[in-house]
Amino acid sequence: MRSFEFYSPTKIIFGLDTELEAGQQIRFWGGSRVLVVCGGHSAAASGLLDRVLNSLAKEGLNSEVLGGVRPNPRLSLAREGVRQALDFDADFILAVGGGSVIDTAKAIADGAANPQSDIWDFWMKRQELSSALPVGVILTIPAAGSECSDSSVLTNEDTKEKRGLSTDLHRPRFAILNPALTATLPPFQVACGVVDIMMHTMDRYFNPYTDNNLTDELAEGLLRATVQNGRLALERPGDLHAMGELMWAGSLSHNGLTGLGGKKDFAPHQLGHELSAMFDATHGATLSAVWGSWARYCLDTDPGRFARFGARVWGLDNRELKLEDAALAAIQATEEFFRTLKMPTCLSELGCGVLEEGTLRELAHRCTFYGTRTIGSFRVLEERDILSIYSMANH
Ligand code: NZQ
Ligand code: ZN
Repeated sequence: MRSFEFYSPTKIIFGLDTELEAGQQIRFWGGSRVLVVCGGHSAAASGLLDRVLNSLAKEGLNSEVLGGVRPNPRLSLAREGVRQALDFDADFILAVGGGSVIDTAKAIADGAANPQSDIWDFWMKRQELSSALPVGVILTIPAAGSECSDSSVLTNEDTKEKRGLSTDLHRPRFAILNPALTATLPPFQVACGVVDIMMHTMDRYFNPYTDNNLTDELAEGLLRATVQNGRLALERPGDLHAMGELMWAGSLSHNGLTGLGGKKDFAPHQLGHELSAMFDATHGATLSAVWGSWARYCLDTDPGRFARFGARVWGLDNRELKLEDAALAAIQATEEFFRTLKMPTCLSELGCGVLEEGTLRELAHRCTFYGTRTIGSFRVLEERDILSIYSMANH
């Protein structure tokens, strides 16, 4: 038996037209002056933003909009959002978009509740966060799981540092999940989302405490559902059932459920973040680009774990195989799936070319926060291990 805490307070409102309930929800949570945060284009172009603003107005709520959040959201826009929230005297932040918008909204909520502080100090752990405004979410892409997570990931564009801040203060009050809002997503973003949902689950599934438990069964079920519906969503664009399943899977993949009692690994995520920080690469694509190399490097840490993953998630009949071969087959099946999604499985496919040795070293050094940390728990990785994994992926 292992000890754990589980705290997932976000109210999920799932179904068609649920974005029309935004005003009522915010009123319920005590909001009256709402800063609505959205991305560059999609929410306004689809008419979603207007519907949401109408829903707020119907409840008598005041609102202002901050648009222009870009993927790999920038610290500078979050700081601008803090200023706007303070000028407007906002008491609630509503995110309308995906992980980048939600993470920006969380950062604004932190900054607006702490006007004397610079938000980056919280991300760099120079100051501890003890209060934040409430955040609500209308999700438009199943991917990052930020709608239920305790995390917010920002990029400091001046230093090219992409850093996360995890705190229960970041758990949104509610998340509205209407699968129809995903209809305008390009296939690339759907595929990146599928990879990300899988990786939130796998970065917990591969951990040092592996025994037979319900958490593993939940993780394997979530992975199977994500693979199945990921395939469907790309084969039949606009399949609302498949997108709905992905949305729910995405929320559960990162609210903590699939890692209870384990120790989060998240090494592939850390490897990916450095690639995003240096090349502005899309999050999900960075994960598929490095995962196979990470897995091969870590295979001998616990080949039985990979073999079980192959049998339970990919349905591989590996009983006759040696454990190492069964593990390798599972890694190959995963990469094969990434390829069917047209996701990269190496650095050149990610679009950054084949990197020079000096760049790989720089990435590895940055990944250890300049020599001050190791990453991972399934296998603890030092700078030389990280360099080896980047080198394996460098083709
Ligand atoms: O800006 P718009 O025009 O909205 O376009 C966005 C953006 O270009 C577009 N998009 C979103 N919904 C759409 C749509 N286009 C058409 N129709 C729709 N319905 O998709 C693009 C990507 O959006 P983004 O928000 O960046 O996607 P995602 O949800 O994948 O978020 C990625 C970010 O979240 C972070 C990642 O590192 C990355 O910065 N993560 C956050 C986590 C968390 N807070 O818990 C955990 C994750 O592991 C991840 O690190
Ligand atoms: Zn992720």
